[in-house]
Amino acid sequence: MTNFKSSIATIHDAEFAYLRDMIYKMTGIVLADHKKIMVQSRLNIRLRSHGMTTFEEYVNKLKSDPKFREAELSELINRITTNKTDFFRESHHFDFLKETYLPQFEEASKATGNKKLLVWCSASSTGEEPYSIAITLLDYFFTRPGWNLKIIASDIDTNVLQTAKNGIYKADRLETVSDQMKNKYFTKSEKDGNIFYEAKPNLKSIIEFKKINLLEFPYPINEKLDLIFCRNVVIYFDKPTQKFIFNNFEEILKPSGFLIIGHSETMFGISDKFKFLGHTVYQKKS
Ligand SMILES: C[S@@+](CC[C@H](N)C(=O)[O-])C[C@H]1O[C@@H](n2cnc3c(N)ncnc32)[C@H](O)[C@@H]1O
Repeated sequence: MTNFKSSIATIHDAEFAYLRDMIYKMTGIVLADHKKIMVQSRLNIRLRSHGMTTFEEYVNKLKSDPKFREAELSELINRITTNKTDFFRESHHFDFLKETYLPQFEEASKATGNKKLLVWCSASSTGEEPYSIAITLLDYFFTRPGWNLKIIASDIDTNVLQTAKNGIYKADRLETVSDQMKNKYFTKSEKDGNIFYEAKPNLKSIIEFKKINLLEFPYPINEKLDLIFCRNVVIYFDKPTQKFIFNNFEEILKPSGFLIIGHSETMFGISDKFKFLGHTVYQKKS
């Protein structure tokens, strides 16, 4: 009989410290001591895929073999990131878009003639967040033609980005999407007794997916942005990293541009470049 436990490699302090420092430098993610077992269980699959049985072997290879390191780093990051997300997560932000932000933006456009709206969803995970933004925008502008709507959806994790790009979700993932929106923006299909919903081309067409690491500034975005979503990611970073990212956002936003962060995140005591509008919605001061 296979002893399942014996096939799990144990991570020791020296290897954990090495991986923790490397992950921090590459992603900004802070792994406290109590995350050791999580790192061990998430990375065991990486060891197995290389036929390795110990973390010493894995870390030595990372240190000594540049080719291995280069190929392995993105797989390692993909295993370490936490990708929890949902359609219309923290729904008050989508109410804010619909009821406050978009009407204001539309009103301002009457004076400027600008009918282009550029949104960046900067930690888009498996896509539920950028598709929720896209649905909100398309629904609002449905009766208001002539608008150029674009969402850049990015993440550091290449696996979740691919899922986002595919835009195909099991039915239970869409529990927070109304039937009317499901019918309007998704195509239903069935495979092996499971129901799936795929984002329709009109939804996909306003989203550009790309890999962006929030730590690597300048970001590969050529235009100034109207609105940034950066929800439930800076919570994994320390304060200096958060400050660095918020300052970058200030630089890449248009004057008076908006930034939305997650409900358990704050800019208080970290950056004073934004005005707090309530419900973790911020506006660039200048
Ligand atoms: C918990 S998910 C949040 C998803 C979504 N924003 C939401 O609120 O539902 C955090 C995401 O941040 C991404 N992430 C972590 N570090 C990152 C970095 N340095 N640059 C870009 N994305 C990062 C992870 O890959 C993960 O998909």
